Amino acid sequence: MDSHVIVVTSGKGGVGKTTTTANLAAALARMGKKVVAIDGDVGLRNLDVIMGLENRIVYTLIDAIDGACRLRQALIKDKRLENLFMIPTAQSKTKDSVSAEQMVAVCDELRADFDYIIVDSPAGIEAGFKNAAAGVDEALVVTTPEVSAVRDADRIIGLLESMEKSPIRLIVNRIRPHMMEKGDMLGVADVLDILAIDLIGMVPEDESVVKSANAGEPLTISSDSPAARAFKNIAARLVGDNIPFMPVDSTSGNGNLFGRLKRVFGL
Ligand SMILES: Nc1ncnc2c1ncn2[C@@H]1O[C@H](COP(=O)(O)OP(=O)(O)O)[C@@H](O)[C@H]1O
Ligand SMILES: [Mg+2]
Repeated sequence: MDSHVIVVTSGKGGVGKTTTTANLAAALARMGKKVVAIDGDVGLRNLDVIMGLENRIVYTLIDAIDGACRLRQALIKDKRLENLFMIPTAQSKTKDSVSAEQMVAVCDELRADFDYIIVDSPAGIEAGFKNAAAGVDEALVVTTPEVSAVRDADRIIGLLESMEKSPIRLIVNRIRPHMMEKGDMLGVADVLDILAIDLIGMVPEDESVVKSANAGEPLTISSDSPAARAFKNIAARLVGDNIPFMPVDSTSGNGNLFGRLKRVFGL
């Protein structure tokens, strides 16, 4: 199969990688793609909870790697969406329980059966990131429009480039348009100016994200909230549809904040 194997990562932690993985996986499955989301954040184990599949775990990625089961036995089939699967990780293991070679083998085996293989990973500066990303071709870098997150995203983009991932595309998450208008937040244009990679989507701050995480149902399964629409647009762009960006795209933020960002980058 001509699969897309994609890591979702970030520089800074807590910017929305797991949220993005779950929502894109569900959105792509709804579009008829056969999708598996892999929890590559070994030791934290979040993706199963966000996807509402935690009660269905029998085997994990680690079991498959250790030879305690076959890889397909660790696959959990979502009951809501026909084409959606996930592979959970183990909480009790450390981030180095999976080697780069093992992740390459896992991703390669899944290529035969899936259109999209999406790996949720630890933040790029953390241990375990390189291994989680070893088997993928492409990367989605998630950042929030904050100076510190953008600075860390830049480092990770450099690392992904040195790992020869391509394309590397950016998602700016937790956008609050009114804060941008008031100049209290960086504009997306500013972020793009600094990071110099292609934007694939912007996701607004949306309290339905928190509700859906607590309910264990990705927004893109049935919600039409602003964040749900944003994630569906990103999924559509991933499959090659030409979806225009929401108007917030052209918003340029506060000149002072941009100046601060440039100083942080030594520009
Ligand atoms: N667009 C958003 N709007 C509101 N809350 C969000 C949004 N994106 C993420 N969050 C919240 O931020 C927290 C961190 O998100 P998560 O996806 O777990 O980040 P990561 O995987 O990068 O650590 C979670 O509580 C999540 O619900
Ligand atoms: Mg996470």
